[in-house]
Amino acid sequence: MKKVLLATVVALGMFTSLNADDAATLYEKCVICHGKAGEKVALGKSKIIKDMSQADFIASLKGYQDGSYGGAQKGLMTAQVKSLDDAQIEAIAKHIVK
Ligand code: HEC
Repeated sequence: MKKVLLATVVALGMFTSLNADDAATLYEKCVICHGKAGEKVALGKSKIIKDMSQADFIASLKGYQDGSYGGAQKGLMTAQVKSLDDAQIEAIAKHIVK
């Protein structure tokens, strides 16, 4: 019985979508370069990410993951986003792009 309950709790945890707090936590490591609200030009190179559309934001992060997007500093961003899954990328996009 205990095992069944535990399995249910684990399964629920996996399928619950990410909330705003999770997105803020995921974004913490980005703040140093992009600013708390995505308002900075990171390292003097990036776009102001809060001014991107959500679609462009998501496409750029997925592009960094598969190497199809980016400028001179793209290697740096690839390292930042390679461990994120699609749901996490979408949660960060919603958090930053209003
Ligand atoms: C060490 C500094 C640094 C950190 C940390 C960092 N970025 Fe970046 N980011 C950059 C730079 C520099 C670029 C421009 C890279 C290029 O040449 O394509 C960039 C580009 C981007 C872009 C695309 C904007 C454009 O110019 O096309 C997005 C979106 C983005 N970052 C989101 C994030 C997110 C989300 C995180 C955290 C998971 C993050 N970044 C962490 C420096 C950083």
